[in-house]
Amino acid sequence: MSSSEARVIKIADAHAHAGERVTIQGWLYNLRKSGKIVFPVVRDGSGMMQCVAVKANVAEPVFEALKALTQESSLTITGTVRAEARAQGGFELDVEDVHVVQRVPEEHPYPITPKDHGVDFLMDHRHLWLRSRRQHAAIRIRHEVVKGIRDYFDSHGFTLVDTPIFTPAACEGTSTLFEVDYFEDEKVYLTQSGQLYNEANAMAFGKVYCFGPTFRAEKSKTRRHLTEFWMVEPEMAYADLEEVKRVAEDLVVSLVARVLENRQEELKVLERDIRKLEAIKAPFPRMSYDDAVKVLEGKGSEIKWGGDFGNTDETLLTEGSDQPIMVDRYPTEIKAFYFQPDEHRPEVALGVDVIAPEGYGEIIGGGQRIHDLALLEKRLDEHKLPREAFEWYLDVRRFGSVPHGGFGMGVERFVAWMCGVEHLRETIPYPRMLYRTRP
Ligand code: 4AD
Ligand code: MG
Repeated sequence: MSSSEARVIKIADAHAHAGERVTIQGWLYNLRKSGKIVFPVVRDGSGMMQCVAVKANVAEPVFEALKALTQESSLTITGTVRAEARAQGGFELDVEDVHVVQRVPEEHPYPITPKDHGVDFLMDHRHLWLRSRRQHAAIRIRHEVVKGIRDYFDSHGFTLVDTPIFTPAACEGTSTLFEVDYFEDEKVYLTQSGQLYNEANAMAFGKVYCFGPTFRAEKSKTRRHLTEFWMVEPEMAYADLEEVKRVAEDLVVSLVARVLENRQEELKVLERDIRKLEAIKAPFPRMSYDDAVKVLEGKGSEIKWGGDFGNTDETLLTEGSDQPIMVDRYPTEIKAFYFQPDEHRPEVALGVDVIAPEGYGEIIGGGQRIHDLALLEKRLDEHKLPREAFEWYLDVRRFGSVPHGGFGMGVERFVAWMCGVEHLRETIPYPRMLYRTRP
């Protein structure tokens, strides 16, 4: 039988083909040689499989070609799937034939070798680094989270309503806007959040979400900041702060469960302590900003009432807690213009942050929005925001205004927490940061 007759399969499906003759289309991950046997480890994007080529069982040129193969050369390999309890994935392939598609030349070898490379080197080779096991695992977990987010909202009565990326106005403060030259003399900005449009959309659809890339010209060089990140933002008409908190908590619990259910392999590759994730359960502890400040003072933080929490404060706050903590009612002064003030204490805003445990920091920010036209107009003036760019937003308060709220969850922050990785740069295929715009 010629090799062209074997069925092409994905390594991830090998279990369904034990005893069958199959072809795998992939790349050489590693090659071990031991006299008359070579053990190529092949990856095909879906998984990895050790293959076994015995000199006596394959044609001479096939054996020689295999023996001389270099890391990341592309090849198709045909053989019989055999259950092997000791093998990664539980199966091996007894090689019969090999077709080398492109052999990576020795003179110009694959740059990422099993030895340690510095992070800058790896980031410069991000387009190749994605082939490595840990990066591959992190991006698969990201995919699971993204799919989990969509499934969650789609099955809870939310309509996906996409919001624009070129926007005429700021949502989260003017200091972190990327300005873009549009046509003629017009300037537009890359969106910081789809929230303002979401609010209008919620009045049309009741419950909506938008999900896409957002941009912040933040000059902070921390492990938690990207200049381009993905955010999912639900928005609900007739929702108050309590409802916003309930949905945020329910979403987080459902996503953690989903990652645990579907991504065990990847969590293992990442050496994630999954007991920490298994412990995540509703209800999450709730705390007012006032109490959070007291807790932080007690732990030696410099924070004073009225100040915003830094990374260290967030880490201190969740220290000793297995669960994310929901902190609400921040000082109105430090919050964006659109937050509804507490009716009994207007100096605090009906906003909530969800702070992940293990030092992963704020994963969600949201709250209740101002629904009163006059108050919103006053806030726009106080924040020196150009009225004409917000006229359409004020219309939401002119025509059937209702209390409403929602939140934004940063996908990379959430994925970093799931993966247990230090830095957000490993949770997005091509990170954009203060000093990194390529590849
Ligand atoms: O707290 P933020 O700024 O809230 C908003 O943008 C609201 N308009 C959302 C809403 O209510 N619809 O951002 C929300 C989340 C943060 O909690 C964090 O997870 C993530 O977005 N985030 C970032 N992630 C990576 N890099 C950055 N520079 C981020 N800034 C915010
Ligand atoms: Mg925030």
